[in-house]
Amino acid sequence: MDELKDLTIGVIGLGHVGLPTALGLADLGWSVVGADDDDAKARGIAEGRAPFYEPGLDLLLRKGLDTGKFQVAPNGAAAARRSTVLMVCVGTPQRENGSADLSRIESAGRTIAANLDGYKLIVEKSTTPVQTADRLRQSIIRYSRRRSPDTGNGAAPEFDVAANPEFLREGTALDDFFNPDRIVIGTASQRAADLLSRIYQPLFDRAGRKAEEALVVTSVNTAEIIKHASNAFLASKVSFINMVADLCEATGADVTDVAHGLGLDPRIGPHFLEAGIGFGGYCLPKDIRAFQKVAQDHGVDFSLMNEVDSINRRRIDAFIEKIRKALWVIRGKSIALWGLSFKPGTNDIRDAPSVSVVERLMAEGALLRLHDPQAMGEFQTRFPASPPQLVYADTAESAAEGVDAVALVTEWPEYGEVDLRRLRGRMSIPLIIDGRNMMDPEAVRSLGFEYYGVGRP
Ligand SMILES: NC(=O)c1ccc[n+]([C@@H]2O[C@H](COP(=O)([O-])OP(=O)(O)OC[C@H]3O[C@@H](n4cnc5c(N)ncnc54)[C@H](O)[C@@H]3O)[C@@H](O)[C@H]2O)c1
Repeated sequence: MDELKDLTIGVIGLGHVGLPTALGLADLGWSVVGADDDDAKARGIAEGRAPFYEPGLDLLLRKGLDTGKFQVAPNGAAAARRSTVLMVCVGTPQRENGSADLSRIESAGRTIAANLDGYKLIVEKSTTPVQTADRLRQSIIRYSRRRSPDTGNGAAPEFDVAANPEFLREGTALDDFFNPDRIVIGTASQRAADLLSRIYQPLFDRAGRKAEEALVVTSVNTAEIIKHASNAFLASKVSFINMVADLCEATGADVTDVAHGLGLDPRIGPHFLEAGIGFGGYCLPKDIRAFQKVAQDHGVDFSLMNEVDSINRRRIDAFIEKIRKALWVIRGKSIALWGLSFKPGTNDIRDAPSVSVVERLMAEGALLRLHDPQAMGEFQTRFPASPPQLVYADTAESAAEGVDAVALVTEWPEYGEVDLRRLRGRMSIPLIIDGRNMMDPEAVRSLGFEYYGVGRP
């Protein structure tokens, strides 16, 4: 295939999806040029500084820059001109009415339209509602015609649009890139499907896997729905087990055993059945709302998603109530909060449960001592330290110095390794509220702690 000889892949948006994708593709041997609207971020990346924490990212960034396989363009237009394939990885945040804000997709599309100089494949990697790729195609036609008197005279610009939604998870982004469980390619164009399949083929060659096991080639609308449906299903599993956890708690059953018993059924599976404070982050909350909104716009009843969302929102209330019940009065109490990122393995605090927990406890007059292995910098830009009400501690143990309770919010593995005997000696009152069921209740209680988990007797 001629197109592959000097193929350059452009990646528009170098965030949590774009940067790992760009570096992964460069590591597979492709020439990749990235661009980001945020100049400081782009400059930092070009100088070898990853803008967020992701295991292995620093190393791969250095490798990509050193080999020259990954370069940063001054802007999206330059990346568009240099590339045949353009992967759009910009954000699709939530608008006030719950729908996805697609302005960044549209803006990336206009930049590409203004730089269509020969065939280009535009790949939508961002998570978008069904029919977005169609709108993107129309918009590119419109704006490329407006720009060029040549194409304005009726000759259609030569390009394809494909939806290739991303399934990587923050915290394991590179591992997920190199070992995908599926690659969904939504397109009406055989040329686009072939091109994308060839781009990903080295992944399978490296792993000795057959591409057919993972490739799902389908229409653009179907691909977009696969992504939203995946996230909606995962969110539903979490809310389901949290609903069951409440019944367990009310009746003396143990939700961790219930989840184990449930998960052994291969039709259900063991993942995403951990009861706790609920899901957060940049994907599940906004994606279930966008999915629901698009269904509503088409007159389809998605009220199930409403319930999934509201069960999840109530998890924070339940956690605060648990703290209140344990401490009786929150005002004036000193509480260590362990874990601020929305999940372990990342410093991302977008839509993290910790944000609401901190806001609520501060409003109630608690004195908070915060710890996270990676996200304290991010958190401090949002909640600057203000002793004695808000203090950041270097270690989980020092966060617990003199406190009335430790509340575990994010299940970083290191919290499971804290020496509990020493911890007990540092706390004023040996009380643990474990929002993620990380600890073994019997072991903790046998060391003299008062312990409260989620959905456990
Ligand atoms: N974060 C995840 O785990 C994850 C996983 C799968 C899918 N997604 C989806 O991928 C998309 C990106 O998510 P993210 O977490 O990487 O977001 P992000 O905010 O980390 O990154 C987006 C980047 O795009 C840049 N940008 C915005 N508009 C631009 C433009 N017109 N031109 C160039 N750069 C532009 C921003 O400056 C930012 O750096 C979203 O649709 C998200 O839902 C995210």
